[in-house]
Amino acid sequence: MKNVSDLTREEAAAELQRIAAEMARADIAYYQNDAPYLSDAEYDALKLRNANIERLFPDLIRPDSPSKRIGAPLQSAFGKVAHRFPMLSLADVFSIEEVEDFIAGVRRFLNIDGDIAFMCEPKIDGLSFTARYENGLFIQGATRGDGQEGEDITENLRTIGQLPLQLEDAPQILEVRGEVYMAKADFFALNQKNESEGKKIFANPRNAAAGSLRQLDPEITRRRKLSLFAYTWGEVSERVWESQAGFFHHLEKWGFPVNPNNRLCRNVTEIESFFANLMEIRASLPYDIDGVVYKVNDIALQERLGFLTRTPRWAVAHKFPAEQAFTRIRNIRIQVGRTGALTPVADLEPVNVGGVMVSHATLHNEDEIKRKDIRIGDTVIIQRAGDVIPQVVGVLTDKRPPESQQFIFPHICPQCGAHAIREEDEAVRRCTGGLTCPAQAIERLRHFVSRDAFDIEGLGGKIIEDFYKEKIILSPVDIFTLEERNQSNGEDLFERNRGLELEKREGWGKKSVENLLAAVNKRRIISLPRFIYALGIRQVGSATSRLIAQNFESWQHFEEQMVAGETEKLLAIDGIGESMAHDIVEFFKEEHNLQTIRDLRRQIQIEDFRDQVNYNSPLAGKTVVFTGTLEKLTRSEAKAKALAMGAKISGSVSKNTDYVVIGADPGSKAKTAADLGITLLSEDEFLSLLA
Ligand code: IVH
Repeated sequence: MKNVSDLTREEAAAELQRIAAEMARADIAYYQNDAPYLSDAEYDALKLRNANIERLFPDLIRPDSPSKRIGAPLQSAFGKVAHRFPMLSLADVFSIEEVEDFIAGVRRFLNIDGDIAFMCEPKIDGLSFTARYENGLFIQGATRGDGQEGEDITENLRTIGQLPLQLEDAPQILEVRGEVYMAKADFFALNQKNESEGKKIFANPRNAAAGSLRQLDPEITRRRKLSLFAYTWGEVSERVWESQAGFFHHLEKWGFPVNPNNRLCRNVTEIESFFANLMEIRASLPYDIDGVVYKVNDIALQERLGFLTRTPRWAVAHKFPAEQAFTRIRNIRIQVGRTGALTPVADLEPVNVGGVMVSHATLHNEDEIKRKDIRIGDTVIIQRAGDVIPQVVGVLTDKRPPESQQFIFPHICPQCGAHAIREEDEAVRRCTGGLTCPAQAIERLRHFVSRDAFDIEGLGGKIIEDFYKEKIILSPVDIFTLEERNQSNGEDLFERNRGLELEKREGWGKKSVENLLAAVNKRRIISLPRFIYALGIRQVGSATSRLIAQNFESWQHFEEQMVAGETEKLLAIDGIGESMAHDIVEFFKEEHNLQTIRDLRRQIQIEDFRDQVNYNSPLAGKTVVFTGTLEKLTRSEAKAKALAMGAKISGSVSKNTDYVVIGADPGSKAKTAADLGITLLSEDEFLSLLA
């Protein structure tokens, strides 16, 4: 075989194609048939050769390159299951102070002075599952997926001996949720066996559990030893328990494994000692845990607390301190993000941090580099917490080599040469090039097609970059005119409209172009939250986009209000503050943004927002304003309840207001409302509307 450095361009392209095909075949053998025909060493050698060729010929990287595919075996092969009740995640906290803040917040929300009991549970580091029972029979199992929709793993779950398949005395419909994990001993045994047979070694028990559960052939799942703990519920026809502790009793009675270390704690002191004790016994537990979950025990209180967009208000995850490792900084470079922020990134000598190889870490901003006195050549402590980008905790100064170099933070954007300036009270320095800066433009396009936005399959980061550089895609709308431009025949007046002939690109063909265009067409109808998120407005993440969608319901309405500069409409939304509202309104002041949206709307259709809110409730679609002090509910509780019933909340009274809820000592809003002839509700009347 030729050395990579001796390959001609044609040979390199052919070689990349050969490796992609070979590795795809090996993946199927490994993941689908559990009958690998390549040793790990052979597999890794192919992977390395592929990476080396790609480094020399980056423009030849194939859309189906194995470098993009590793670790995500055949995801789409499972059927989808829509969760009737979303599978939420938990907010994370990292210190006992934050736990105290959480408890104080719960008390404030509920307006309770005394102690509140919390169920404290080890946080199992596995994969969450949901198991549906109808008339006592197990009928369906699913993974969490994105929380709204998961993968159908019914047959795989069925092979786990600990899952009861039949329940006595259970509600007619019952969804039990929990975590599937691989015990440490089973993980070591599996790896030992795999090693002796030349098969793949898993990095940690969590990966092993994931790889074992998501097997297309459930027989393979059966052979791997998986375990589970149950800890919560989804849909249930008749809830016959009043507390988390009560639910555990039922789970035990039905035969589900319940973690023996779960404890009911009555105050902060008990919670603190629970956490300290668990840290101590962590290593000796037969399974991996990554923290503790605290849940308000009383379900009536849980229901009053309700949910934020993605997490319950009644529970929190207290994570164990992140894992750390030492390594050396090879170089520091600047990345230019979507909003022009210059972020320094450290290139590291690769190091294993808690089972994952890390070769880059963020240095955040220029002050952070100064404060920690981080220099090129330094040995540093790297920390990784969950999915968070690895960070540099500190420098081991006694290991500093004499040739170490201070990093001089540029005042010029390294991508486009525009000035990079730092506003007085901001930590970040930003490129002023706007869309003339290729880095910003490319990052915005990448964001636009990313998973939580338009989610266009096959339009990966590299292709976006190539298409941008070749002026094929300069603005989001260009994505949706690709097909038309690809087909045009060269008679157009405009240079850009000459047929793109995408199928003639290196490494592309008729099929790959068809696939790409089909993936684009699939996204011509988009949900409102995704569309808002895709715009890449500063500070507006996917949770906020959802909130906005929920409150404005249609794009038309949202745009009209924003163009009219209705900041108050945003501020009335629980979860949107001054600075975010400012960024949103500013976005709509830019003519080029409005133009982009107009162009896009000629190509796509934005669906109105539909959510799991109660559309039959008397509050559905009504605009509600609160004034004065409520006695039975706190203000945030009342707002949350009204939102869940489909109401819109506003901070001020106008002729569009439907109801004004009046508490004790109401302000001028009550008078304005009366003058406008708007229906006034007492707290009790409001409560009976909710009921
Ligand atoms: S309760 C609405 N309890 O942690 C709350 N989750 O960060 C639903 N997890 O997705 C989750 N142990 O995969 C809960 N005892 C426990 C848990 C637990 C592990 C996982 C679960 C969840 C994630 C949230």
